[in-house]
Amino acid sequence: MNGTMSINKQGHLEIGGCDVVELAQKYGTPLYIFDEETVINNAKAYLAGLAELENYEVIYASKAFLTLGMCKLIEALGLSIDVVSGGELYVALQAGFPVNRIYFHGNNKSISELQMAIDVGVGRIVVDNFYELETLAEIAANKRRQVNILLRLNPGVEADTHSYIQTGQPDSKFGFSIGNGDAERSVDLADGFEYINLKGIHCHIGSQIFDISSYKVAINVMMDFILNYKSKGITLSELNLGGGLGIRYTKADQPVPIPEFTKFLVSSVKEAAEQRNLEIPRIMIEPGRSIVGEAGTTVYQIGAIKDIPGIRTYASVDGGMTDNPRVALYQAQYHGIVANKADQPAEKTYTIAGKCCESSDKLIENIELPQLEPGDLLAVLSTGAYNYSMASNYNSLPRPAIVTVYRGESKLMVERETYADLIRLHRIPKRWQAGI
Ligand code: LLP
Repeated sequence: MNGTMSINKQGHLEIGGCDVVELAQKYGTPLYIFDEETVINNAKAYLAGLAELENYEVIYASKAFLTLGMCKLIEALGLSIDVVSGGELYVALQAGFPVNRIYFHGNNKSISELQMAIDVGVGRIVVDNFYELETLAEIAANKRRQVNILLRLNPGVEADTHSYIQTGQPDSKFGFSIGNGDAERSVDLADGFEYINLKGIHCHIGSQIFDISSYKVAINVMMDFILNYKSKGITLSELNLGGGLGIRYTKADQPVPIPEFTKFLVSSVKEAAEQRNLEIPRIMIEPGRSIVGEAGTTVYQIGAIKDIPGIRTYASVDGGMTDNPRVALYQAQYHGIVANKADQPAEKTYTIAGKCCESSDKLIENIELPQLEPGDLLAVLSTGAYNYSMASNYNSLPRPAIVTVYRGESKLMVERETYADLIRLHRIPKRWQAGI
């Protein structure tokens, strides 16, 4: 069980002090439940963990989960925010997020996105490639506006859950490679532009990382880079280490707790600075999944149950790959709890399927659950990150509502889409209106 989950006297699953069965009755299904306390605790753990450094910033990677309310919560908690498109920037601005705490990422920002970022005055633009650097310098010069940037570097450290490998020629669409001289050229170029203020460097080595030793490798590569430029008289005073900490989806996952992770980062940074006789730069990190992933639960209603003797039993839910595309996309594994039978023992093995017209639309394969009946409520855990933000309307399924729960109270965060929303932007060309 995650965060504030418990089982109440009726044998129902509770999240944030709210009975999940009651939430499903009140708000309908599928329903995303957002456990506010878990987000608060995670954000505070990051801030507390880095507080040992004098100069630091925790930047929430909003691609994981972004709504107006989330921006407000993130702002109130004292985090900054990263956006990767004009759309994400728009949401943050509409929420009134302090613009100097907005970081703008992306490997192919459009000219209008860059213009928008300069016009509103985002805190930092994280420049990804030469085309962007040159375009940005030109726009900034035309507007006579100083723009603060970080350069996204590719340190050649590939992280995965169990090991890291260092590659001389990393194959990635993101960032300036350190291995082949691009990173050095980007600094020299940026340094020469009148309206570009080069503040520092950024890297992001991956996502859902369990083996945190790869961060230390990246820190050393980045600090060597900083040292190299110090000797050339260019100060790179900010070091953004990206996001990537893994979370628990199933019992098999053993993520590193946030305090342990931040402790490791802080000690690695201090050690790297000491070894090179460098001042510790301003350290930024950009967690997304590890702030919000375990705070999310999706509740579905079970419908059709199909037993294929000797093969498997499918139990289908009223959502699926539309609200959670991660299973079909990444073979992601999830755990589920029957919310109205949370106190009952597991009796049978099920495969949980979605309602989309695709065989790959499965949410969980082979999970042991109490005997299921149509109408039961299945809570799928750890759906807070990259679910709502990656949801689609495939098969014209309206996107679910999001409700936030906190100490026994529930409040709508995003309304359920309606059928009318599905056709809001559709237009019928005039010639077709009376038949062709
Ligand atoms: N910073 C940068 C530059 C990133 O590209 C990302 C994620 C993050 C921070 C946040 O990483 P996190 O802490 O959430 O791991 N859709 C995939 C995940 C894609 C992550 C993309 N970048 C999934 O559902 O697993």
